[in-house]
Amino acid sequence: MVSVLEKNPLLEPLTLPNGVVISNRIAKAAMEEGISDRKFLPGEKIFQLYSRWAKSGAGLLITGNVMVDPNGLTGPGNVILRKGMDLSGLKKWAKIAKSEGSKILLQINHPGRQTFSFVTETPVAPSPIKVKIPGRMFEKVFGVPRALRGEEIRDLIQKFVNAALLAEEAGFDGVEVHSAHGYLINQFLSPITNIREDEWGGSLENRARFLVEVVKGIRAAVKPGFCLGVKLNSADFQGGGFQEEDSIRVIQMLEPLGVDLLEISGGNYESPAMQGGSGKREAYFLEFAKKAREITKIPLLVTGGFRTRSVMQEAISSEEADMIGIATPFAFHPEFVHALAEGKIEKVSTDIPKLSNPAINSIARMSAIRLQFRRMGEGKEPKLPRSLIFNLILDQIRGRRNAKRYKKFLMDGAN
Ligand SMILES: Cc1cc2nc3c(=O)[nH]c(=O)nc-3n(C[C@H](O)[C@H](O)[C@H](O)COP(=O)(O)O)c2cc1C
Repeated sequence: MVSVLEKNPLLEPLTLPNGVVISNRIAKAAMEEGISDRKFLPGEKIFQLYSRWAKSGAGLLITGNVMVDPNGLTGPGNVILRKGMDLSGLKKWAKIAKSEGSKILLQINHPGRQTFSFVTETPVAPSPIKVKIPGRMFEKVFGVPRALRGEEIRDLIQKFVNAALLAEEAGFDGVEVHSAHGYLINQFLSPITNIREDEWGGSLENRARFLVEVVKGIRAAVKPGFCLGVKLNSADFQGGGFQEEDSIRVIQMLEPLGVDLLEISGGNYESPAMQGGSGKREAYFLEFAKKAREITKIPLLVTGGFRTRSVMQEAISSEEADMIGIATPFAFHPEFVHALAEGKIEKVSTDIPKLSNPAINSIARMSAIRLQFRRMGEGKEPKLPRSLIFNLILDQIRGRRNAKRYKKFLMDGAN
């Protein structure tokens, strides 16, 4: 065992460009928890869940996305940051997550058009182009967005900066700006969702302006020791969308801006590559990471599909990745990192049975994963639901109930 430990590249610390040291190479990637309290703030369930993950052995924990603007919500049980908010819940969240030595980044996000119509009927986006998922059952799931006005864009950039300042004040080690998976920043980057003709659309420089301004704004506002991460798509995997060449150029734009960690992912709701890639290999974004490595010195966190110790070790030893991001396994085996990194197990499994209809399978799977956050948030052990379909229905009912509460929260002035 000792020799495995001595040689294990997964257990090497990583020093980020700003000097912060992460104790090992495993990160719990962001997973939307959907268990905020009644005021859309972190509460008991989040604290319980993170006290579990604090013991996971991961050097880095990245929270599920929290919202930078009360008017945009990716899922109806999420934490919402707002001006003048009570910071006690955020402070407790950061403290619990760090209690066993992990670093914690708060992932900050705005959904843009990718929000369910039962949550927001008319979302905002770079351009009025609706999410289109094939199948009649998805026709009314998303609303047609309204294009943002120039001054609203500036205001949203400032909201990302304010969110980072709140995270810093609350004691998080840093933030991760969610620029992937088809949310607002990714919508600006993609020529499919951004057909603007002003300074925010057209050329890649213009489409990347929102992200670049957010990154510059945060770096200028926070202390040098506060980590700034960016999660970026390697590609959207859609014809005419944000392609690998674009992603490489965006990374080059980020290079001089003081980014401490770049997480590589891919896909969006229309083309959900983040949930399975091409299926050809376990760690499906590593090929892209290799190309990114050639043009950037920013430490790379590669997320998507990693399950086997040897694959993770090889990715770190070969320097294709500096950190390995893992999401789904943390829902079912919250303490697997110790066993895997120390060589006691070779592989972590996620054990979710498959349903025959791919669309239903995908949403039922997400509901089954989210159930584990609620269970751990209530101090229970992870456990698959008896019926994936029944669990999905319950999750939908809960979502609608939360959406009603959200609408009331907005009407009451979002406080
Ligand atoms: C239930 C669930 C919620 C997720 N929420 C987020 C999120 O809030 N932010 C994010 O960047 N990625 C989110 N993801 C994507 C994961 O971070 C990760 O990129 C993806 O699951 C692939 O990693 P894995 O194969 O290890 O699960 C989520 C994934 C799952 C399963």
